[in-house]
Amino acid sequence: KPTPIVTSKSFTAVAINTAARAGEWIKSKLGSYGQLNLKASGQDLVTEVDKGSEAMIRKLITTYFPTHTFLGEESVPLDTAARQQTFAEAAEAEYVWVVDPIDGTTNFVHGFPFFSISIALAHKGEVIVGVVYDPSRDELFVAEKGKGAYVHGKRMQVGPEKQLSESLLSTGFPVDHVHTLPPNMRALQAFVPQVRNIRTSGSAALHMAYVAAGRLSGFWEVGLNAWDTAAGALLIQEAGGKVTDTRGEPYTLACRHIVATNGHIHGQVLDVLEEVDGQGPAS
Ligand code: IPD
Ligand code: CA
Ligand code: CA
Ligand code: CA
Repeated sequence: KPTPIVTSKSFTAVAINTAARAGEWIKSKLGSYGQLNLKASGQDLVTEVDKGSEAMIRKLITTYFPTHTFLGEESVPLDTAARQQTFAEAAEAEYVWVVDPIDGTTNFVHGFPFFSISIALAHKGEVIVGVVYDPSRDELFVAEKGKGAYVHGKRMQVGPEKQLSESLLSTGFPVDHVHTLPPNMRALQAFVPQVRNIRTSGSAALHMAYVAAGRLSGFWEVGLNAWDTAAGALLIQEAGGKVTDTRGEPYTLACRHIVATNGHIHGQVLDVLEEVDGQGPAS
């Protein structure tokens, strides 16, 4: 049997088809998501649709690329030691698919149409493909390393805003309130009077796709995970923007506190976070 020829193009095609199929299924489950379970807290929701979407995505991807590693939010163990082990294994893998089967579960549960599927492929720790799909609007955001970022085939470019005063920013509130609420509150209080406005719409991946598309000037959030940010980070970089941690260090899959902007306002956002110590807990 000849070995199939695998190019970066086929990685992207699989990511796109998988996101589209999962998205269609998730949309069909709006309003009938089965059992609602709580993870760590009453704000940390998971439904049968999150799990079903992840199972579907994993099956499709591993059928095409059986030797690749798969890191999906709903199959990462909750227990801290086992969790760290899973992350360590993923960091060692040559190819790892980093997947959020529904980013914006709270919105999905409430029927608020702002949620997405986020699929990224990293090669030796570097994201080379990023796809974010919004089934409610049927919008597909795709980036390939070095080849630009596109929304439904149209090249994306970050927004032109140069000052905070003309910027529309976005943020989110992770479920880990104990550690993230104080820095979030300090940051919000500092940003609100300085920017045009702030949106917090409940899907980090989609917020980041919107920064890439120039619909938002920037995004920051503390306490995220790789599955929330990997695809969005590549979309932004390929659309001419900038992604770092809240201390200004370059984005990696290990970053949990994220600043993602059109590039022009990046330093100003970092300065505000530093001034008010809104950079989040140490890790
Ligand atoms: C959440 C969303 C939300 C963000 C949270 C994430 P989930 O992901 O991205 O916007 O504020 O930090 O955990 O749990 O819906 O996949
Ligand atoms: Ca979740
Ligand atoms: Ca998420
Ligand atoms: Ca999720």
